[in-house]
Amino acid sequence: MLEQMFATHSILVKIFLGFLVVGLFIPMITSKEPLKFRKASFIYTMFFQAIISMIAFTGLIAMITAEMSMSMSTIIMIIVWAILMYIEIKKYKLIKLSKIEDPQTHKVLKSGFIKITIIQILLITIMVVLMILKAKGVVSI
Ligand code: HEM
Repeated sequence: MLEQMFATHSILVKIFLGFLVVGLFIPMITSKEPLKFRKASFIYTMFFQAIISMIAFTGLIAMITAEMSMSMSTIIMIIVWAILMYIEIKKYKLIKLSKIEDPQTHKVLKSGFIKITIIQILLITIMVVLMILKAKGVVSI
């Protein structure tokens, strides 16, 4: 049961990473249609929130079930999780409140979307590498 919980947590992180990479195409596919870009980015945020919530849920349940104490790696994960969530909500609000029909605004938001997604991908990749290094005993966090 516990093994399954950790495995699910790990798989969800990889699914999330794949989802973010696919999301990079949203600004490109909708590059000529600002309203479609806005709609697609809202749907994207909805799935983003769903997956990231499942990651937190499986991580927390596994941690409690295993009666683990807060390790440094768990604290880093929670911080990364909060940063990812914070950036995504900021981005969502920015796109929602903007005058997306304005070509200049649309252009800025498109490149912003891509830059933010790249930062999020980097954060997750660093976290995954860190956990691999921990499992191999290279780092002790
Ligand atoms: C509230 C959020 C989270 C909690 C409570 C949590 C909790 C945990 C715990 C307790 C473990 C096992 C730790 C260990 O083996 O020392 C773990 C493993 C892991 N977590 Fe999280 N986590 C959270 C969010 C995240 C996020 C956002 C990421 C990715 C950015 C992530 C990536 C990983 C990875 C890659 C592993 C290793 C899995 C494996 O051994 O295959 N976690 N998590």
